[in-house]
Parts: sequence; C-alpha cells; structure tokens
Amino acid sequence: MIKKDNPSVLFVCLGNICRSPLVEAVARRRCAEAGLQLTLGSCGTGNWHVGKGADPRMRRAAAAAGYDLASHRARQVRSDDFALYDWVLAMDSDNLEALQSLRRDRGNAPELFLPWAGVPSPLEFPDPYFGDEDGFRESVALAERGVDGLIARLCLAGDA
Ligand code: 4NP
Repeated sequence: MIKKDNPSVLFVCLGNICRSPLVEAVARRRCAEAGLQLTLGSCGTGNWHVGKGADPRMRRAAAAAGYDLASHRARQVRSDDFALYDWVLAMDSDNLEALQSLRRDRGNAPELFLPWAGVPSPLEFPDPYFGDEDGFRESVALAERGVDGLIARLCLAGDA
C-alpha cells in the first residue's frame, strides 16, 4: 500500500524542451487546483538543450491552453534523481531504457508515464519535435489526460 506525504514525481523526455516540461506545467497547475502537495520536476536523458528554454512551438501551444513555460530551463537527468524522486516517469520506451541504464538498480525504478497514469493508449507520449504545430496542440491534450490519471492515482494512493 502506498501512502506518502508530499510525493515527488519527475517527468523525463529526451530534450526536456517539449514533452516533460509541458507535463510538469500541467501537473503543477492541476495539483494546485486539486489541493495536492507534490514536488514536481522534469528533465531530459539527452544533454543537447541543457540550460535552454522550452521549444517556442511548445511554449505557444501550452500558452494557448493557459500553461506558462517561460521560466523553464532544460536539465539532464542525474543518477541521484532515482533517490530524490518517488516516481521517475519516462515519456517513451527509449527514454525509459536510458533511465534504466543510468539507474543501475539504485533508487526508485523508472516507469512509463501514460500507462502509470492509467491512460490506456497511447503507451508512449509521441515526440512532437520533428512534427508540425498540430502535434504540439495534441501534446497539450495528452498531457492533460495523463496528469488527470496521475492525480487520480496519487489521490487513491493517499487514501490507502
Ligand atoms: P522532448 O523533444 O524530448 O519532448 O523535449 C525533443 C527535443 C529535442 C530533440 C528531440 C526531441 N532533439 O533531437 O534535439
């Protein structure tokens, strides 16, 4: 049975400029609205965009739905994140594999975000980076579905 005060969740994608900062921003707002105390973060398995802001296309799509990514700065995952965060949730299976290699059986095991949140499909959060603006809008809707599922799961965990 899982019961935690102030659970912590880290969202992980490849560059930490599109999917995971979006999911973090959606989770931040929805957790605040639900009165849930959570420590939230995001990072990437790659290092190409470290220190940069969110992708402008992602910022625009997020802003259109009321989520502000202006203060986000990309960072790369570190091996101590598995001890610092209760749940380390990867956006897709490539990033899950990268996390599993980095973890080396120390700390909390990473999992796939959407299945963990109870979203039946898709299993993987599609990467909008090489696509058009529609993909970024669809990312926002999928992030909201995922975060709703995450909150439902954490609320159940809190009641257990
Ligand atoms: P993200 O998207 O992993 O959702 O932040 C990407 C960002 C950058 C790249 C690929 C995906 N890239 O190849 O630089």
